[in-house]
This record gives sequence, structure tokens and C-alpha cells, in this order.
Amino acid sequence: MLLEAENLRIAYRDIEAVHGASFHVEEGELVSIIGANGAGKTTILNALMGMTPVKEGAVRYRGLDITGLPSHKRAGMGIRIVPEGARVFPQLTVLENIMTGLYRLRKVTDVPSRLSWIYELFPVLDERSRQLAQTLSGGEQQQLAIARALVSKPRLLLVDEVSMGLMPILVEKVFEVLRYLNREEDLTILLVEQNALASLAISNRAYVLETGVITLEGEAQTLKSDPGVRKAYLGA
Ligand SMILES: Nc1ncnc2c1ncn2[C@@H]1O[C@H](COP(=O)(O)OP(=O)(O)O)[C@@H](O)[C@H]1O
Ligand SMILES: [Mg+2]
Repeated sequence: MLLEAENLRIAYRDIEAVHGASFHVEEGELVSIIGANGAGKTTILNALMGMTPVKEGAVRYRGLDITGLPSHKRAGMGIRIVPEGARVFPQLTVLENIMTGLYRLRKVTDVPSRLSWIYELFPVLDERSRQLAQTLSGGEQQQLAIARALVSKPRLLLVDEVSMGLMPILVEKVFEVLRYLNREEDLTILLVEQNALASLAISNRAYVLETGVITLEGEAQTLKSDPGVRKAYLGA
């Protein structure tokens, strides 16, 4: 098991947002947590990255208890996040943004080959490498946020609602890259998404999160045909 969350309770001051969530991600899997706006998806992902404290429960990564570990330590262990809304540095160029993904990594000797790998995945970033990130479209910023996480060659990629605000054609494209990274490059991915249809299409397994509680879990294909899921998330 690469990642295991056990009975996570996460609160903002005295208001609890996640009420005891348990889930796991096996090495090599692509897993989604799907849920409506406000369900607690970002809260969970930020807690996994160490950016939001956990009130109760445990997070284990490669068998180690990392519940209290700061973000940079988790990053050093190969966990990276693509945060909600991309959060690129607006005043840095595309290339500079990508390079921030290597911050604190010492022995990176193959920067050129990593960059050409990134530019193959996201050709638009190659074309715009000298442009300030603030001049990019929302979709391009999302691609940049993924690139910044990828350049460190993570073992586990956490992706927060990358489809938000993107045109359907672009959602498809970005999800296709995530699928490729998972299937062909053995990258383990945990997605949180409101876009159930797109995320179930590329996932092995998924969890349904409703106001801080995991109410359903299973194979993505099975969930896609679940009447409750279809009604609530697939508009059918
Ligand atoms: N910084 C915060 N302070 C207080 N409450 C918050 C904060 N961030 C999120 N919440 C609350 O926690 C709940 C879950 O939010 P969030 O994790 O952002 O959901 P999602 O990502 O699924 O849309 C919501 O009720 C939200 O209002
Ligand atoms: Mg969110």
C-alpha cells in the first residue's frame, strides 16, 4: 500500500469538515475521490500534503506514519500536489515556475531531459516557456501546475480539481495526460474531482465523499453504473 488514510478527522477551528474518512491508494493505481462543492475534497488533499493539520486518525505512506510531518518532508519523500486553482507564481516565467518544482532537491543532474519530457507532455508550455505565468489561460496554468509537480519525478501525485473552469475539450486533454502518466509512466495518482464522469473514466477505483463522509467506494467502472452515483453526479 502506497498511501493509507485511516479515520481522518479534519477541522477548521471547532468546525469539523471531514468526519473520519478512510481510504487507500495502492502503488500504480489511479484513484479518485469524487464529491460536490464543499464535500471536503481540498481539505483531505491538503491534509495529505501536510498543509492542513489532522485532528484525529493517521496517514501512512509506504508504511510510515507521516501524520504530523511538515509538507517539505512529504515532498522530499516523493509526494507532490497540484493545488486547487493551480496557484502558479504569476510573476515568474513558465520555465521559472517549472524549476520551482525542483526546489530543495539536491542531486538533480538531468534537468534538460526532465524539461524535454515535460515539454513533450505539454507542448504549449514549451512554446510559452519565457512568458510570465500570469499571461497564461486557465487551462495553461493548470498544465503548468502539473508540470511543476512532475519535474521532481514524484512517486505519488495529488491532483485537486484540475478540471475546474476548463473547457470540456481541455478537461479531456489534461485527463488524457494523467491517464498516460499513470498507465505508461507508473505514476500513482490520487485525484479529487467534482467532475465524476471524467475522473471515473480514467480511474481504477473511486470513493464518493459527501459532506465529509465517504459514502461509497469501489471500482470506477462499477461506480459509473451505480444508480445513486448516476443520479447525483452524472446527471442521469
Ligand atoms: N480555511 C477554511 N476555514 C474554515 N472552513 C473551511 C476552510 N476551508 C474549507 N472550509 C470548509 O470545509 C468544508 C469543506 O471544504 P473543501 O475541503 O474546500 O471542499 P471541496 O474541496 O470538496 O469543495 C466546507 O464546508 C468549507 O466551507
Ligand atoms: Mg476544493
